[in-house]
Amino acid sequence: MAQVDYSELIPNNVDLASDRRLKRALEAWHPKFMDWWCNYGPDQYQDKAVYLRTAVSVDKDGWAQFDHVKMPDYRWGIFLAEDNRDEKTINFGEHKGQPVWQEVPGEYRGPLRRLIVTQGDTEPASVEQQRILAATAPSLYDMRNLFQVNVEEARHLWAMVYLLMAHFGRDGREEAEELLERRSGDPDKPRILGAFNERTPDWLSFYMFTYFTDRDGKYQLASLAESAFDPLARTCQFMLTEEAHHMYVGETGVARVIQRACDLMREHRTDDVRKFGAIDLPTLQKYVNFHFSVSEDLFGAEQSTNAANYFTQGLKGRYMEARIKDDHLLKDSPYSVTDLVDGELRQQEVPALTAINERLRDDYIADCQRGVDRWNKLIRDAGIDFEITLPHRAFHRQIGVFSGAHVTPQGKVVDAATWAAHEYDWLPSPADHEYVQSLMQQVTEPGRFASWIAQPRIGINNQPIEFPYVKL
Ligand SMILES: [Fe+2]
Ligand SMILES: [Fe+2]
Repeated sequence: MAQVDYSELIPNNVDLASDRRLKRALEAWHPKFMDWWCNYGPDQYQDKAVYLRTAVSVDKDGWAQFDHVKMPDYRWGIFLAEDNRDEKTINFGEHKGQPVWQEVPGEYRGPLRRLIVTQGDTEPASVEQQRILAATAPSLYDMRNLFQVNVEEARHLWAMVYLLMAHFGRDGREEAEELLERRSGDPDKPRILGAFNERTPDWLSFYMFTYFTDRDGKYQLASLAESAFDPLARTCQFMLTEEAHHMYVGETGVARVIQRACDLMREHRTDDVRKFGAIDLPTLQKYVNFHFSVSEDLFGAEQSTNAANYFTQGLKGRYMEARIKDDHLLKDSPYSVTDLVDGELRQQEVPALTAINERLRDDYIADCQRGVDRWNKLIRDAGIDFEITLPHRAFHRQIGVFSGAHVTPQGKVVDAATWAAHEYDWLPSPADHEYVQSLMQQVTEPGRFASWIAQPRIGINNQPIEFPYVKL
């Protein structure tokens, strides 16, 4: 079961060959997907050989195989984590203890479809957002990482489309079409979630996006991996292994920008690293503020009856549900959330069931902080007195109770005039964007890197740094 069948047009470990209707539906969608990939996926470079990894099995060890391939030849497929349905029961909600579902219960069709479509929509959206970045890649190594992230996000689209087509009949097929029709940032047919309509205009934004926004993906996938709907759970479980690489690209990318700044600060005894074509730490902090706050919004409102229903119905759990020590029903449990009351931020006890989103956001914030700590260690080790911080959760929010308020990164509520006077102390200004943009020059010589980023510590799959990761 774990082995992937590569003899088919659509590689899979779900025995697609035995379901002719489904196979036909997916094969009919395939050319439309390719059309989307070629027109809205990576701009240019589609005819170049890229050192990509491909899934060959979903086993813990050795699921990946590395080789130079042209992106349109990448074998996008359908991979679900191992089927161990006989041992599995539902972990939470009103069906707790019952066997997991292999089919969608009629009464949950609507909400499950919505969850899958919302997740599915983010996958092609990020590919569209990152479409033009290769033209300014700081190295071949980075260009390859961008493409790897892109092909895997596209595979995540396949993963969601498979679920829609296999389990939601005609509705599912229509949703699959629409996933290829919405466009990131398009005013008439935007992607569903806000952060996925933002631009990713430069590589600093790309690393921030893969650190902060792909990490939202991790938490959404992890809570869907708890779902009582087993095909969804198993799909998301495998997607998580790919997601880890995207966050690695983000964390190490930002770390290398920091390293470069620190090296120059030390070498020239100055804070003004812009003189040397690098990105100064205060500017980097503003990018953190922006991407963190935008990504926080993806978790939804602090209190949500929708989220409560998803939980009670067993559709979407909490992060690491099985490891949480409580009754997994949350009928009478409290949870502490930050609220805005009479213009002040306050802790409030609310029913845990309605605070499911906030709990997931809390897990997310703690995870974000761990990487920030590692970045700060680099700065400390360089003997530099600067600390990167995550802004307060109420800072720069568009969704939830803080959306109407003006809150500083330190968590102080201020009036609109104060906000306006300081906005660009906290968020990248047009001039900051312009400066970062001015650094974005493509570097194509193997082993060489742009002026604003340090080289990575190790290459990909034990290859040397100067390996031709993309053959131009
Ligand atoms: Fe993804
Ligand atoms: Fe991702």
